[in-house]
Amino acid sequence: MASQAKPDIRHSAPVHGARHVAIIMDGNGRWAKKRFLPRIAGHRAGVEAVRRVARAALDLQLECLTLYAFSSENWKRPAAEVADLMGLLRHFIQSDLDEFDANGIRLRIIGNYKALDPSLVDLIEAAVARTAGNSGPVVAIALNYGAQDEMVRAVQSLASRVSAGDMTAAQIGIDDIDANLDTATLPPLDLLIRTSGEQRLSNFMLWQAAYAELYFTDILWPDFDGRALAEALDAFRMRDRRFGGL
Ligand code: IPE
Ligand code: IPE
Ligand code: MG
Repeated sequence: MASQAKPDIRHSAPVHGARHVAIIMDGNGRWAKKRFLPRIAGHRAGVEAVRRVARAALDLQLECLTLYAFSSENWKRPAAEVADLMGLLRHFIQSDLDEFDANGIRLRIIGNYKALDPSLVDLIEAAVARTAGNSGPVVAIALNYGAQDEMVRAVQSLASRVSAGDMTAAQIGIDDIDANLDTATLPPLDLLIRTSGEQRLSNFMLWQAAYAELYFTDILWPDFDGRALAEALDAFRMRDRRFGGL
């Protein structure tokens, strides 16, 4: 007896319709404080949440998940906390790269990561190179990232093309700026999530968020999981995106 053909769901677009989701992962310190634990315990639990959410992004068929891990302003924190965060980052890359690679994830970095410790820069570049040929979703980690710094770097590189005579100032357009941001080649940002109840962008993806949908949740980052991401995508699906039209 001929079995009824099953629909091939592998190549169908996900129902939520979002290609690129970015998350401002906030609330690690408050999560720890509630438990009378040191802030580093919150950051450790935050790394667990990164693992869960990266797996969920695969299940939810996102093309790109961008995670704000360390801002260009986070250097203002006590040196010990900065060192803890850099240590966790180093450990995360060393321990999780195999799984990322096995899942076909392409690791990308946005932000001025080259200003980090040289041994960390080497580790990051090797990890990015190792996964560059994969064909799965992109997980982009924002490290030493600030949108204003990103725009300054983009303007500098366009200005140097103008002064070299490769283009005129009047020729600079939106696409040129897009192409000189760290997010060049990533899909347009659809949904920007911030956890922990704060409702600000804290210098994250200011240009890219022009028409992104914003979603704020009180969940502290270490408590965020695949279900919370699916809920955000459900909310996204109900939004009426107009892009200035009707
Ligand atoms: C987010 O959690 C992680 C980083 C910014 C590195 P926080 O450390 O900002 O946690 P809160 O905001 O103090 O709770
Ligand atoms: C934004 O969170 C940066 C990251 C999540 C990496 P912060 O906790 O640094 O933001 P502010 O200081 O509350 O605006
Ligand atoms: Mg915070």
